[in-house]
Amino acid sequence: MTPPSKRAMVPFVSVANMMRLVHHVGLPVFLAELTQAVTDDFKRWPAFDKTPRVPAHSPGGVIELMPTADDTLYGFKYVNGHPKNMAEGLQTVTAFGLLADMASGYPLLLSEMTLLTALRTAATSAMATRALARPDARTMAMIGNGAQSEFQIIALQAVCGITDVRLFDVDPAATAKVMANLRDTGLNLTACTSAQDAVLGADVITTATADKRNQQVLTDNMVGAGVHINAIGGDCPGKTELHRDIVARADMFVEFPDQTRIEGELQQMPLDHPYTELWQVLTGQAPGRSRPDQITLFDGVGFAIEDFSALRYVYDRARGTDYVENLDFIADPDDPRDLFGMLARAA
Ligand SMILES: NC(=O)c1ccc[n+]([C@@H]2O[C@H](COP(=O)([O-])OP(=O)(O)OC[C@H]3O[C@@H](n4cnc5c(N)ncnc54)[C@H](O)[C@@H]3O)[C@@H](O)[C@H]2O)c1
Repeated sequence: MTPPSKRAMVPFVSVANMMRLVHHVGLPVFLAELTQAVTDDFKRWPAFDKTPRVPAHSPGGVIELMPTADDTLYGFKYVNGHPKNMAEGLQTVTAFGLLADMASGYPLLLSEMTLLTALRTAATSAMATRALARPDARTMAMIGNGAQSEFQIIALQAVCGITDVRLFDVDPAATAKVMANLRDTGLNLTACTSAQDAVLGADVITTATADKRNQQVLTDNMVGAGVHINAIGGDCPGKTELHRDIVARADMFVEFPDQTRIEGELQQMPLDHPYTELWQVLTGQAPGRSRPDQITLFDGVGFAIEDFSALRYVYDRARGTDYVENLDFIADPDDPRDLFGMLARAA
């Protein structure tokens, strides 16, 4: 059989190679560069085709496709969210994605995205925190100490100068895991026994809990003046984390309103509830934080452009290196019209 042509081959980043790449670059640098890549793309927001992600719901979770494109590149991610998985020894979130050339439609990169989702979600929180938190913010509360949490913390350390972290999870084993994983990072880590305890003295609060219902991880009395909140765990219809009164009192910043309306904390609020699109803050078209005592809320649900940025960043970093393997992925007959002949000759 003739070997596949060059055009048949698509670079693929496996989980093993993604881990090698992150270690080669260094996790804090990777997160800082990825934060910049996401920020660069948010700053050219109007250049993208945008649509809310396409979900398939089941009683235990959701599977979603997240597509977007600019004039030259197209990207999509396949991702699931199954909060019940953890109790069964499976991950809540797994993902993979693809970047393609708009001109020819040919794929340019296929990549694992379970790790990359945690990295880009952390980079997105860092982007929002850098834009919205008080510049002197040094202490963060991390509520929900699962798969996403260490990435969230390291990104805020690398990009926003966080030095102290107060941890809480309903499962103390999750908090113990974070304490162990981050012991050599130079961060001052405190394990807390309640969410109320965790938010004491926190300038930034990040919630990344997984539960397929409307939770109240934070109640109104827990959130003091001047705090910035990244609420990233509420990302599905009927799945929120904050008491409605916090959402009512805070100034809300969102990714793509059409998607946040269905999936974010915004789903708790009336249709005329005010919000600001984060890209407009980043481009200077809308104000971010205007007072030190203001409560800012990033209602992060995860939007396709963040995955596009992550794929683009990995493509630039890994192209032509041994962090990619070439897969025989696109059928490439010698005569483009003779696909059948190619199959027949392979008998
Ligand atoms: N916004 C985004 O872009 C984005 C991206 C990835 C994941 N997520 C969401 O973030 C959440 C966390 O993801 P993960 O992969 O870390 O999940 P995970 O299952 O690994 O961890 C979730 C943790 O939350 C804890 N928890 C549940 N309820 C809690 C409560 N009331 N108070 C404190 N802790 C609580 C659990 O014990 C668990 O340790 C999920 O809901 C996921 O869908 C959002």
